[in-house]
Amino acid sequence: MSDKPLMPSEVRRKVLSQHREIEQMLSELEAGVARLGEGGVDAEQVKRAAYALRGILELHMNFEELHMLPAITEADGFGPERARHLNTEHQEQRKQLDLLVDTIREASSIDDLAGSVAKLAQMLRDDIEEEEREYVTDKLLRDNIIPTDTFGG
Ligand SMILES: [Fe+2]
Ligand SMILES: [Fe+2]
Repeated sequence: MSDKPLMPSEVRRKVLSQHREIEQMLSELEAGVARLGEGGVDAEQVKRAAYALRGILELHMNFEELHMLPAITEADGFGPERARHLNTEHQEQRKQLDLLVDTIREASSIDDLAGSVAKLAQMLRDDIEEEEREYVTDKLLRDNIIPTDTFGG
């Protein structure tokens, strides 16, 4: 992952594409859970997939903090407050994710495992939905090269 500054439109495109990948991984995790009783998938595979997803989510949040945070901070006068909100949410999510992934790894029945995976999926889908409503918009993440009032007369 490169640290070089990205255009806001590029940040938006990449965050959206990471969100679609996370959703895809969640669907695969849920499909694995649904097949647990059939013998083709075992609980250890589901647990490993959940643990791998935790790592990918950490990279995703780091990407958002490195590239999206500066862009939404500079977008308008509400920027600093918006940035504080996103930071607070990420800290809270890290704690919740660690707890949920621990619960998944320690699950001793299919029902426990399925319940924890369902909670994880719900939490992440809600977060993606909220982020795309609040931050990952073309209003906040647009390439504003010329200040809008330059030709305002
Ligand atoms: Fe995020
Ligand atoms: Fe995100």
